[in-house]
Formats: sequence, C-alpha cells, structure tokens
Amino acid sequence: MFPSKVRLLRSKHTLASRLVLGIETSCDDTGAAVMDGTGTILGESLHSQKEVHLRSGGIIPTVAQELHRANIQRVVQEALQRSGVAPAELAAVAATVKPGLALSLGVGLRFSQAFVRQHNKPFIPVHHMEAHALTVRMLHAVSFPFLVLLVSGGHALLAVARGVDDFLLLGRTLDEAPGDTLDKVARRLSLRKHPRCSTLSGGEAIELLAKDGDRRRFGFRTPMGQTPDCCFSFAGLRNQITMAIQKQEEEEGVQEGTLLSSVNDIAAAAQHTVAMHLAKRTHRAALFCRTNRLLPPDEPTLVLSGGVASNQYIRKVLTIIAERTGLRLLCPPARFCTDNGVMIAWNGVERLREGRGVLAPDVDVSYEPKAPLGVDISAEVRAAAIRLPSLRIKIPD
Ligand code: KG4
Ligand code: ZN
Repeated sequence: MFPSKVRLLRSKHTLASRLVLGIETSCDDTGAAVMDGTGTILGESLHSQKEVHLRSGGIIPTVAQELHRANIQRVVQEALQRSGVAPAELAAVAATVKPGLALSLGVGLRFSQAFVRQHNKPFIPVHHMEAHALTVRMLHAVSFPFLVLLVSGGHALLAVARGVDDFLLLGRTLDEAPGDTLDKVARRLSLRKHPRCSTLSGGEAIELLAKDGDRRRFGFRTPMGQTPDCCFSFAGLRNQITMAIQKQEEEEGVQEGTLLSSVNDIAAAAQHTVAMHLAKRTHRAALFCRTNRLLPPDEPTLVLSGGVASNQYIRKVLTIIAERTGLRLLCPPARFCTDNGVMIAWNGVERLREGRGVLAPDVDVSYEPKAPLGVDISAEVRAAAIRLPSLRIKIPD
C-alpha cells in the first residue's frame, strides 16, 4: 500500500475511534447520543416532556427538572447500550451547559460531571445554540464561514459562524422567540381542544391548521418595519394576534377557550407574518454579509435550524430569500432541528478535533442560563441601516 494511503486509513481509523457521548437537558428534552469522530451516530435516546408541558399549558421549570432527573440515567444508558460502546471506550463526554433553564441545565451538568469523574474522561461544555448552528456540518460539507438563522422556542438569532467557537452575532430577539409566540398563540386559541392538534406543539399545530387557512383574511403588521437591523421582536405581533382573536370571539359570541371557526385563517396569518419577519431580517443579514465580505464568494451558505425551522412554510419563504441573495440554503431534517443529544455529541466531536474547550474531568464547570452567542455586532448592523429592496414573495398556496 502507498504510504499516503496508509496515512489516510490511519487518520480515518483515529477519527472513527474518537467516540463522544453527548448529553442535552437545556429545556424540556432529555437527550443522549454516542457518535464517532466522523459524525456517524452509533446510538441515541431521547425523552421528550412535550406531552406533560402541553397538558400544563407551558413549561414549569421544577416539573422539567423533575422529569430530567427521572430520565437522564435511563436515556444515557440507552444511548450507550444501543451504540454497543462501553464508557471506558469514550474519548470524551460533551454536555449542554448554556443557555437554557437553570434547573434543567443543572441536572445534565451534575450527571455529566459525575460520569466523567467516575470514568476519568475529558469533559466538553457545550453552548446549545452553537450546537444547533453546527449540526449542519454533520450532514453536509459546509465550511466556515456561513450565515445561520436559528429559530426555536427559546431563541431567534442571525449569526455568521466563522469557526467551531467563533460567531459574529448580527441580530437576536429583543423580547420573545418565535416558537414561544406560536406556542402562546396556540394556547390562546385552545388548540389542545382541536381534534387534529391535541398532541402537537403550538408551532406544529399552527402549521397544520394554516394549510387550510386564508392568510389574507387577517392582515398582521410585520414587526420592526422601521428598524433597519437584523434583530427580531415577536411580542407586539402576539399582541396583534390576541386582539384579533378577542374581536373574533366577540363577533362569534363565544368565550375564551372555545375553538373559533376562523382558527385556520388566524393560524395562516400568524405563520405568514412570523415567516415574513424572519425573511426580512435574513435578507438584510445577507446584504450586510455581502457588503462586508463576511461570506466566501464561492457557494455562500445560509443554514436554517432550531425547532421552528421544521416549519415548511417558513422554509419556503427563506428559500426565496436565499435564491434572491445568491445563497445556498441548507436545513437539517426536522429531527436534527429540534433539541437532541446528537447535536451535542457532534459539537463534542468538532471541539475534540480542534482541541478547543476540552477539560480535565476534575475541572468544576458552572451552567449559565443566559449566554449570548459570539461577538455581538448588532449595533454595527443597525448603524449600516441597510434598506431592503422591495421583494415580491409569492408562496404557492
Ligand atoms: O429547538 P426546540 O426543540 O427547543 C428549543 O426551544 O430550544 O424548539 C421547540 C419549538 C417550540 O416552540 C415549537 O412550537 C416549535 O419549536 N416548533 C415549530 C414547529 N415544530 C416545532 N414551530 C413552527 N412550525 C413547526 N412545524
Ligand atoms: Zn434548541
């Protein structure tokens, strides 16, 4: 065999044998996965608390903590068993330590630190949004830098990913996140009582009902039309939607808690306005990146991820923005957009490969409920005051 081929095989072998266990507990999903250094998932397990929180009308942090505690041991054990990997064979353990719900983060961190100490393994603390942003690299050959839009129940942000732990934050939400808004609107519409929506998250329910709705019947204003930056705001939009719901209840002569006959149209208009808001900020981010040469001329890429990114309507609108601005749009499949242990294991693999943020087992690590992603340049973006050219977005019904 040629020496270069031997070297290649050996480096592939080294990569494959660098096994990482990833653990996620930042919100309401207890996830674990074992992955090799090439990104192959060897075993995974996920326990979702969605049902419980849907019934109680939102996430109660103490309940989330209790459920993480009750499930973490089993979930990690399951991921390990399915992978056929023994703890002694792991190269490192990665776990989400920021941002998220304090009580939830605490469970994963305590478990992971006890685990790495027991098995004497390096520990890799992970930033949850960084993990969402990098997941795409597990699935596609995407090199740095790339533009990323992350939209979930807890976050909305636009950033340029320049390296595994090197991000430029172009904009973030000033109040709530789009998934949170959709969840609250769904709750206000009592979609749990809808026969087709009883087991769905707010965002999923709204997407389903919007398919049979007329978005033009309710004209919600797209937020922040006069602010030429890349930040987001959804609280005012939720207010507009709530007022429209109240008006409909009055017109239909029903009380709050009753399913409105216009529910599909409200869902369609709400989804459309969220999509347009995301599209406009992303359009400006693409133009800012072009002006400042933040993306490579060759195949500049826009990555869309986070729980809300599984919405097909939002994907279509962003496809149009990507086409107009010359970006290649990549979205991980829905199961990798929502929270899971796989994305944490992948973040561990990336960090281990680069030797960044890999700690000895006895180093004490704290969790951080609030943790901005990267270097915040949103003020520069605002100062650039980029006006958007008018863009006709025609989405097939
Ligand atoms: O990323 P994720 O699993 O958890 C975090 O928030 O970190 O995202 C969950 C959020 C929920 O707010 C849910 O309503 C929303 O993502 N979501 C959707 C869809 N599926 C989940 N929003 C819109 N359309 C969907 N298809
Ligand atoms: Zn998430």
